[in-house]
Amino acid sequence: MQSRITTASPVQARLTRILAELREDHRNIAQLLDLVENELLAVDRGRTPDLELLHDIMQYMIVYSDAVHHPREDLLYRELRGYDEKLVEGLDLVETDHQSIAELGLTLRNDIAAMMSGVEIRRERVVGDMVDYVRKLRKHMEWEERDLFPRADSMAGDDDREIDLSALSIMDPVFGEVGHSVFENLRRHLERAGAGR
Ligand SMILES: [Fe+2]
Ligand SMILES: [Fe+2]
Repeated sequence: MQSRITTASPVQARLTRILAELREDHRNIAQLLDLVENELLAVDRGRTPDLELLHDIMQYMIVYSDAVHHPREDLLYRELRGYDEKLVEGLDLVETDHQSIAELGLTLRNDIAAMMSGVEIRRERVVGDMVDYVRKLRKHMEWEERDLFPRADSMAGDDDREIDLSALSIMDPVFGEVGHSVFENLRRHLERAGAGR
């Protein structure tokens, strides 16, 4: 399992460092989406998915990806807007993407929690939503990697300014060096998946 670049999340950080951490988040999130996809394949083959694993992954998406990663990006994109108007094309769509990904993620986490407690929910709908979620989030990250982050790289090349992250100075509870005990099962799963590669 990858660990984060630093042991402590910074309060103030330069653009280059923020970009490195955002890219690392993307690699971590991609690993989790692969795990989700494995579970979807299990469903396709008629097997019961690991609901606890899916729940933990969606919980992480809510408490870290939606609550820390995306808001950090929003700060970064705000800097871009103020820096050069040639770099702002399409940025309005990012917020909508972040919002719809967060809404779908929350629905999925709640549906999975309900299934775990025995509530009857149409499995096909949850599976459909999950396929949709993986596709949406991958597409969003690809856009950022291909287009938005390089714009921020070019800004950082000229002006590697510091950004105040004090409201978002939170350690990653799964991939951070000190993981949160709530995610112990997910961390063990990732370690096993890493060892099997
Ligand atoms: Fe994003
Ligand atoms: Fe992102």
